[in-house]
Amino acid sequence: MKTNRRTFIGSGIALAGMAATTGLTSAQDIDAKAGALTKHVLPNLPYGYSELEPFIDAMTMELHHSKHHKAYVDGLNKAEAELAKARTSGDFSLIQHWSKQCAFHGGGHALHSLFWQCMAPQSKGGGTMDAYPIMNAIITSFGSFEQFKKQFTAAAIAVEGSGWALLHYRKDDGALIILQAENQHKLSSWNTVPILGIDVWEHAYYLKYQNKRADYVNAWWNIVNWKAVNAFYEQAKS
Ligand SMILES: [Fe+2]
Repeated sequence: MKTNRRTFIGSGIALAGMAATTGLTSAQDIDAKAGALTKHVLPNLPYGYSELEPFIDAMTMELHHSKHHKAYVDGLNKAEAELAKARTSGDFSLIQHWSKQCAFHGGGHALHSLFWQCMAPQSKGGGTMDAYPIMNAIITSFGSFEQFKKQFTAAAIAVEGSGWALLHYRKDDGALIILQAENQHKLSSWNTVPILGIDVWEHAYYLKYQNKRADYVNAWWNIVNWKAVNAFYEQAKS
């Protein structure tokens, strides 16, 4: 795609809301024929690769962020560029392929961006549960924090194959709900906003935990960044 001009933006596009809270930055190339094309970028982590030790090891974090997440960013940029080409050429023969690629890689980019922010080293608040509004909302929706934790843990452990367990804020009624996602995007609902997620793809834990996904999920609770989750909750409500 030929670029006529480039504009850096901070809001008003898909993922902009998440970008504001996850530190994602986006730029748009605008082509008169194809329309706007966002340049998705790999966000920096708010901590070092080794800082989530011993719960998540440094090698896993480095590979997960610099290789796996990077591949989703590149895949999303590629898919959207191919769709822009299709718009200018009028050839939509691969529309199904590139649409699927957008969903897969876009889901991966968005959820990993959320995932990094939902964790913190214990020295920086990870695992600390202060009296944030999200805590009351969890109790309202699930009966108790322990019941929420049990349901979320069970959902994460039971994801079939690769995927996620996600806590969503549902805009219809203000409820918090737990959903699974297979791969990065399947089993999604609508009009809900993910505010907490755990990646249970094997690439997220296999070096340290091998096939013991439950051990990884149980360890992960020690580094949940509740301050950040509360901020996502407050943003989703607004
Ligand atoms: Fe992942």
